[in-house]
Amino acid sequence: MNRIFSGVQPTGNLHLGNYLGAIRNWVTLQHDYECIFCIVDLHALTLPQDPAELRASTREVAAAYIAAGIDPERCIIFNQSMVSAHAELSWLLSCLTPLGWLNRMTQFKEKAGKHRDNAGLGLYAYPVLMAADILAYKATHVPVGEDQKQHLELARDIAGAFNRRYERDFFPLPEPQIFGTATRVMSLRDGARKMSKSDTSDYSRINMTDDSELIGLKIRRAKTDPEPLPDTIAALETRPEADNLVGIYAALAGESREAALARFAGQNFSTFKEALSALSVEVLGHIGGEMRRLLAETGHIDAILKRGAERAAAIAMPVLREVQDITGLLRP
Ligand code: TYM
Repeated sequence: MNRIFSGVQPTGNLHLGNYLGAIRNWVTLQHDYECIFCIVDLHALTLPQDPAELRASTREVAAAYIAAGIDPERCIIFNQSMVSAHAELSWLLSCLTPLGWLNRMTQFKEKAGKHRDNAGLGLYAYPVLMAADILAYKATHVPVGEDQKQHLELARDIAGAFNRRYERDFFPLPEPQIFGTATRVMSLRDGARKMSKSDTSDYSRINMTDDSELIGLKIRRAKTDPEPLPDTIAALETRPEADNLVGIYAALAGESREAALARFAGQNFSTFKEALSALSVEVLGHIGGEMRRLLAETGHIDAILKRGAERAAAIAMPVLREVQDITGLLRP
């Protein structure tokens, strides 16, 4: 059986990277797999969150999933904290995870910065909770953007550690699915940094809820270089900002980078940016409008999350119980 698990943190500012790197791929995959799409609110708590904003962001991510085309009947959509198996399994797996494995995680190093001693234990243990998310459903495939690759390798290592410790083939090793032309969308202001929810510059990212005017403004202000667009992809290698915009165009148009570049080779950026704005507005305008419509009446979203959590728990709780038995914990 092939089962997908993936998730997004409700930390505000859902952006084009989240859409192109993850959510849009899920829309396609939902037809071929049993899919579980989570809003990982417990992960969001690894950094300080305002409670009201966290609730609003959780609903906003759910609305984004649905507005982008994920069918809540076909797929399970829910928020992580509603299913206690995630946190419980996380503890059991953390007892099998050597510190050395966590010390290698680059995202922790980036987020903790220079003041590692002040970083929370949750931020450090975060990849173990992510492994628990996936393994609680014995998911076989995990579609994510490039930045989650290292965490997924760790999830595979943890699954292997459990299977070896208890000498059985219990957890499948989850396969990362990192595909498409925009697996790593970069900041519009700096081609060396990825587009991120936490970037303090609003002009660095296009948010899924931006209106057409704001999208146009951000693209016009996107950093570029003075040269016109080249005619080969190889020539973009030393031009990260141009390369990023071509990648975004290709992903939005659903074509290869080569095909996208061929349309604009030799042209200057103002023409290209105009076309990119129009395409972004075409794709995101509809999604943003649908999100606003869904968010105007939260009862519908809350009902979807509740029902999703029941369906999720029906899969995860029996897996957790089996793990408890295998581990030697007495149960009622
Ligand atoms: P998060 O919330 O940072 O991002 C959600 C998804 O968006 C992708 N993504 C990007 N893709 C391309 N370019 C970018 N600039 C970009 N920024 C983000 C991410 O790769 C991700 O797929 N730890 C995860 C959430 C998580 C999870 C899980 C995912 C928790 N448990 C279990 C899969 C399975 C995270 O913080 O994603």
